[in-house]
This record gives sequence, structure tokens and C-alpha cells, in this order.
Amino acid sequence: MTGPTENTTQSKQYPVPDAFARTAHVGSRAAYDKLCADAQNDYEGYWASLARQFVSWHKPFTKSLDESNAPFFKWFEDGELNASYNCLDRNIDAGLGDKTAIIFEADDGQVTHYSYKALLARVSKLANALKAQGVKKGDRVVLYLPMSVEGVVAMQACARIGATHSVVFGGFSAQSLRDRIEDAGAVLVITADEQLRGGKALPLKAIVDEALTLGGCDSVRQVIVWQRTGGNVPMVAGRDVYLDEVMAAQSDVCPPEWVSAEHPLFLLYTSGSTGKPKGVQHSTGGYLLHAAVTTKWTFDLKPDDVFWCTADIGWVTGHTYVAYGPLAVGGTQVVFEGVPTYPDAARFWRMIQAHKVSIFYTAPTAIRALIKAAESNEAVHPRNFDLSSLRLLGTVGEPINPAAWEWYHREIGGGRCPIVDTFWQTETGGHMITPLPGAHALTPGSCTLPFPGIDAAVVDETGKEVPWGQGGVLVVRKPWPSMIRNIWGDSERFKKSYYPADFNGKYYLAGDGAIRDEHTGYFTITGRIDDVLNVSGHRMGTMEIESALVSHPLVAEAAVVGRPDDLTGEAICAFVVLKRPRPTGEEAKQLANELRNHVGHEIGPIAKPKDIRFGDNLPKTRSGKIMRRLLRVVAKGETVTQDTSTLENPAILDQLAQSN
Ligand code: WTA
Repeated sequence: MTGPTENTTQSKQYPVPDAFARTAHVGSRAAYDKLCADAQNDYEGYWASLARQFVSWHKPFTKSLDESNAPFFKWFEDGELNASYNCLDRNIDAGLGDKTAIIFEADDGQVTHYSYKALLARVSKLANALKAQGVKKGDRVVLYLPMSVEGVVAMQACARIGATHSVVFGGFSAQSLRDRIEDAGAVLVITADEQLRGGKALPLKAIVDEALTLGGCDSVRQVIVWQRTGGNVPMVAGRDVYLDEVMAAQSDVCPPEWVSAEHPLFLLYTSGSTGKPKGVQHSTGGYLLHAAVTTKWTFDLKPDDVFWCTADIGWVTGHTYVAYGPLAVGGTQVVFEGVPTYPDAARFWRMIQAHKVSIFYTAPTAIRALIKAAESNEAVHPRNFDLSSLRLLGTVGEPINPAAWEWYHREIGGGRCPIVDTFWQTETGGHMITPLPGAHALTPGSCTLPFPGIDAAVVDETGKEVPWGQGGVLVVRKPWPSMIRNIWGDSERFKKSYYPADFNGKYYLAGDGAIRDEHTGYFTITGRIDDVLNVSGHRMGTMEIESALVSHPLVAEAAVVGRPDDLTGEAICAFVVLKRPRPTGEEAKQLANELRNHVGHEIGPIAKPKDIRFGDNLPKTRSGKIMRRLLRVVAKGETVTQDTSTLENPAILDQLAQSN
């Protein structure tokens, strides 16, 4: 057990356990510093050397970085590769054909092992089936699937034939799905009849049907339906086919389609400051490189490890650390269909014990929920389970509060497992600021230092680096291989969002605030600086939720802000003005519920506001601008002490504060 030591500014420091450092891929601070120095001395050479080491190229690249059309950077562009070849064939060629690639545990507890060979056979059959349906290199395919091996197979099958996949999380509504299908111009959708979560069957195919009737989806020629539950779903003649049927007819050999390193591997829609979700476009070569190198170094992944990332393939974490990274380095991983609280809140602990998981990666929200459950029910406390197989823990998606970090370290990691608090984004493709567990002493709540080669900095509004100990804006000063290439169909928005003129268009703007520790230089992320909320680690745009609210016939105006929440990190709080007099009492409750469901229907259940408050008006400046910073104070239940002299209607604040 490694005990913490006091540090002058931050709470506690946990040194690297000796036993861990001895065998780690990056096993000391000196080794980390050396990698950083290599990148500093020859930036392009550093990445080129990793790209040769971690990726198999069909045609080698001759140039590393092309900055001629900045900020549309290109990496390894004249190189050719295939992501699926790198994740499957290459491992089989290296003798890992019979190694377990995926241990799948279904919602009902049934377990199935898939070897690399078996996975390749399935991927090839589906790839051939897609080709038979007329899907070509560069076509977009939308996947609306449960967390499943089929989901991973579908992503890999697209990659195999050079089609660009766009996974839509199974919790998004028909409207959200429609928007993404239309924006991507998808030619085909792969879905399931239903998904099983926590013992309940939830529709997927029916939502695809609804989405396709909402208009704008004429590009879709086919829908492939995986029969997950065997639920009775109507099939549209000439459009819908069953996955099993189209695969059965195909050979299990499919030569990979070699693509340029810059070929778009996938689009993944995520929320930004303005209403419309943006299709984050990723490359093949640079993305795969970072997926592989971070999986190996951050998770210190070794051939005998059993890795488990609990993220759904609908989010970027499920892309990089389920569908690509672990396979690209020949690892064994657990894929889980269900939820952490079914059949009870010990599901994760029971699964770690059963599958001898050695590296476990999850979200702070899940940890907080499971702490609460363990504290109120002894039977689901992790101490009842044998978690001795664990050697490393990780978190992602939102800040982890030190108390939750300490519990995770003590109760799950038995005090011996380092925790990698990994900061990154949909746009960054993989880890950006994260401990390397054999190199960095840990401070709860800090994601420590940039991954070697990532030039992250905290700057002021002019782009000048601020001294350690002073908060600022997080930027990345040099392009890196796995960075977002574009916003699908909207280059202007890409430039404005990520390379704003404020920093002469030179720095990537992450959209988060950060501060570095005065002594260690360790980074702590202080939260989004734009109108993006982070609810249970899910990104939501306030404007998206506002648009959903005002699309209800009774709503005249709405403003959405976040407020801190013990369980979900942030909670959505909506202030609403109706086209009729302000409701109170029972009527207000009923209407709030109706609006909540409306938002659920428009976007998906994850976007439902926790609080909805009705006012006669919203706090506005004389020029009519809604003062959100005041709404944030009211949402927190605090008294507004700021200057309200620019406010046209100060009395409204009292009304909104009381309307809870
Ligand atoms: C937040 C998820 C603190 C941050 C991979 C970022 C974090 C947004 C951390 C991206 C972390 C992610 N500590 N905050 N370790 N990881 N975030 O695109 O605000 O879903 O900008 O990617 O999550 O969310 P996204």
C-alpha cells in the first residue's frame, strides 16, 4: 500500500508504487521527460517514429505533418493503411489469432468470448455484406446500436471497406437521429430491433423508422436490422434487411480497402455552443496512432491484461478505448451491454471479479453513484468482492472530486492501483492530459501532465501563457496526429470554434478552463468556458436544450444553465416563460413534467432538465440580452450579490428564486 504525502498547495500526493514502475512501459519521470524532450527537439520526427512503431502501413508515408492549409492540418497523408487490418489481421499474423479479443457480458449476465480470428471473420462477413448492399469507400454509414460486439463489428466492418461510420448513441431521439443522418448524408443505417438495458427492452428500430419519416433522409437506401431481442418489429420491404441474413450469404474473407491516412474513419456528433450538434471528423492514420499509443502508455497495457472501458460506443471513449485502441495493441477487453446498477449496484465489482479485470476505466458519475449505493447497502459494497486482479484504474469525461477519487483508490484499487484521470475530448481523438501511471505521482482531482508530444498550455485571452497557479484558458499550441480534421460540411465553424482569431488562429481552443499547480505544474481542469454542460460526463449544449424547449407550443422563451450536482457533476436547470400566465403549484409541476418529456422526445432522455422554473420574464439587460451569469447564481440557490444595475427587471430574480 502506498501512502500519500502532504504537498504544500494541493491536498495529497500519491507516489508511483515501485512495483508498478518496475514493469511499466513508461516507468519513471525521467523516461517521461525524455519522451517530451524528443518531441520538443524534433516534433515531426517524434510522431513519425511512433507512427512507424504502432501502425502497420500498406504504403509508408514520406511526410509527417502538412501545415500548408492550416488549421486544416494533415498527418502522414501519402501513407496508406487500413484501421481494421491494424486491429485484426495484424494481430492474427503475429500469432494472436486464438487470443480472446473480447469478453462480452450481456445485460442478463450471459458471457461470450470472441477470439481475434472469430472477430475478423464476423467483421469480414459484414464488410462483404455492406459491399453487396452497394456501400462504397467514402460513403457514410450511421450505426444506431446497443453496446455490443455487433456494434464493434459494424464499426470495424465500415473501416475495412473505407466507409465512414457515424455512431449515434442509442439514447438519442428520432429527431436527433434524423438530424445526424441528414447532416452526414448516410446511405445506410445499421440498427437493432431493441436494446436491453437493466432488464428492460427499449426500441431502436422503431426510432429509426420514425427518424426516416421525419424528412431529409432520402440518402438512406437500406436499413440493416440486428435481431438482438427477437422483438416483433415491422420491416419495410425493399429497404430493411436482417443482419444475420445478409451476413450468412457472405464469405468470411474480405481484403481490406487501403485508404490514405487522411481518409475520414468516422464522424461523431457532439454538442457545441450553438444549437446544432457538430459532426467531428476524424482521420484514419493519426487517429489510430494515438488510439494505440495512449492505450499502451496511459493504461500500461500488457499482453496478459484484461482491460475494461465501460463507455458506450455511442461516445468517443467507446470509439477510442473500446472499438479501436485495445484491438490495435492486441489486448483482451471486456465489453458490457448493461448498466452498473442491474441486477444490483455490485454489477461492476462482480464483473471485475469474474473476468479478472486488471485495468478498469469508467466515469466519475458512475463512481459517485456506486459510492452512494455501497454506503446505503452493505451487500453491494465492493469489499464483498475479490478485486485483487486490478492493477490500474482510470476515469474520464468530467472532473473527479477528490473524495470520490480517494474512495475509488481505497475501495476499488485496494490502495495499490494508480488512477489515471484522463482529460480529453471528442475532438482530440484520445488522451491529451493524463498521468502515465509508472511516471507520475498522483494528486486527486488533477489530470497531471500532457501526454508526451501534446503541447498543452494555460493562456490568457491574448494567448500568453499565464504563470502556474493562475487560472486561464486551455489551448494546444501544436497540431497533433489524432486531432479533429474538420466539422463535417462546415469548415467555417471548425475554424471559428477551434482556431479563433483571438490567438491568431494558431492555437487549438479546447473550450475548458484550467489551472496549473504552482509547484508541480500539474493541470486541473476547471470546467467549460462556453455554453456546453457536462451532465454525467455527457456533453450537452445549452442552446440545443433551449431550442427543444421553445419548440413546445406553450413556450415563449427559455434559458438553460448548469448548476453543480453531487451525483451528475452538473445538472440542467431551465428557466421558462410561457405564452400564458406563469403557472404555480400543481399546474407548474405538471407543465414542468410535460416540458421535461418534450425535451426527452426532441433530444433524448439525457437532456431532460432536472429543474424547470417558470417566470413572467427572464433577467435581461436593457438591450435585451439574457443575463445567464445571474441565472447560474439563482440556479444554485444562492443570493445574487453581483451588480444588477444593468438589469432591466431586477425583481424577476426574486420571482425565479422562489419558483423552485
Ligand atoms: C470534460 C469525453 C475534467 C471537459 C472524452 C471536456 C474532463 C469534455 C475530463 C469533453 C477530465 C473530459 N477532467 N474534465 N478527466 N475529461 N472532461 O467530448 O470539459 O464527451 O471538454 O469527451 O469533458 O467531453 P467529450
